[in-house]
Amino acid sequence: MSTDDIATLPDHRLLSLLDESRMIIVCGPGGVGKTTTAAALGVLAATHFAKRVLVLTVDPARRLATALGLVALGNAEVPVHLDRARGTLTMAMIDTKSSWDDMVRRHAPDERTRDRVLENELYRTLTSRFVHSHDYVVTERLFEAREGGGYDLVVVDTPPSRSALSVLDAPRRMEQFFSSRLLKLLTAPTQSRLLSLASRPFFVVADRILGAAFLSDIAEFFTLFRTMEGPIVARSRRVGSLLAEESTKYAVVTSPEPVAMREAKFLVDELRRRNHRLAAVVANRLVPVRLGDGALKRAVGLEASLADPVGQLAPPERRRLEVLVACEREIAAISAQHGSAVQRIADWGALVVTGEDRGGDITDTASLLALGESLRTRVTTERQE
Ligand SMILES: Nc1ncnc2c1ncn2[C@@H]1O[C@H](COP(=O)(O)OP(=O)(O)OP(=O)(O)O)[C@@H](O)[C@H]1O
Ligand SMILES: [Mg+2]
Repeated sequence: MSTDDIATLPDHRLLSLLDESRMIIVCGPGGVGKTTTAAALGVLAATHFAKRVLVLTVDPARRLATALGLVALGNAEVPVHLDRARGTLTMAMIDTKSSWDDMVRRHAPDERTRDRVLENELYRTLTSRFVHSHDYVVTERLFEAREGGGYDLVVVDTPPSRSALSVLDAPRRMEQFFSSRLLKLLTAPTQSRLLSLASRPFFVVADRILGAAFLSDIAEFFTLFRTMEGPIVARSRRVGSLLAEESTKYAVVTSPEPVAMREAKFLVDELRRRNHRLAAVVANRLVPVRLGDGALKRAVGLEASLADPVGQLAPPERRRLEVLVACEREIAAISAQHGSAVQRIADWGALVVTGEDRGGDITDTASLLALGESLRTRVTTERQE
């Protein structure tokens, strides 16, 4: 089969999904179009519904970010102009460092604690260098976006594959962190316990290499951080339950390449294992229908005119036709591969939405809407596993 054999259904299912959800979390392997799809879903929702839509993105491709005015703004929420939209669209990038700083400003019990945390070396290193430090701030941003009451739909872009799962696990991990014995040991009753650890061999060496400031920074950081335990744990719990709500849906994006599909299937299984509501799998960057449709027929037709003994083709004309035949055959072969990839994805048992490769980059709201519209009109039937 080829992409032109994909059964297309009336387009209401993707739109119903956008209409019914309050949060859509877009996950997938690296580079398959998660950020683009999240933005396209946001544009589609704001165009069709009188909703206030927020798209929270992670690290968008530079040209898209520039086109949407996201580059210089870090964490700020930017209104995006759409022609003929019924609702409004706002986009924001999740900047890890500034999100942590905002969180400390919000939760610190007093100004002194706030300033000491912000100036603490360990805090600075943790928030700017550690990959997982991103996960928790996404939680904070989700809380603000949902509980702030400003938005009807929040579309959340995530980092590639397994990191998306660690974003989803972040609320629970944060709670575990605060109740951990290690934190209690480090902070109770005062810093003295930690500082007394400093006489142990590891710390003696650490102290020599890293300087005494390192140890006191650790002690200070954990002690100060604990003063924010109450609000942080409360929010983590709330976000944990938001992630599991009926109106929170998950979409997995994949390309038709085998490596991406393996990773996407892993995500699908993990989301289900965690009882998250997988609403759709988006098979992105498929051969466009206008190219794939009838490519084989066109190749066969051209071959017939090449074989025609009566028509004497001039050599340049013959060569031109041969090139065209080769192109059509190649398109037909890729289209067939994509068609069977989509069929395999349909076996995963979720709604499959197909997205065409639109050539070049997708860098403005018009091309995002065009992608969104093509997504909603190429919904395929799903088969149950
Ligand atoms: N359907 C499409 N047609 C054409 N180009 C596309 C399509 N989808 C995505 N792209 C392009 O592919 C590139 C990667 O897309 P994107 O940044 O959305 O991927 P991602 O999955 O978010 O990547 P990462 O894992 O790095 O975050 C971008 O240049 C984007 O414009
Ligand atoms: Mg991305």
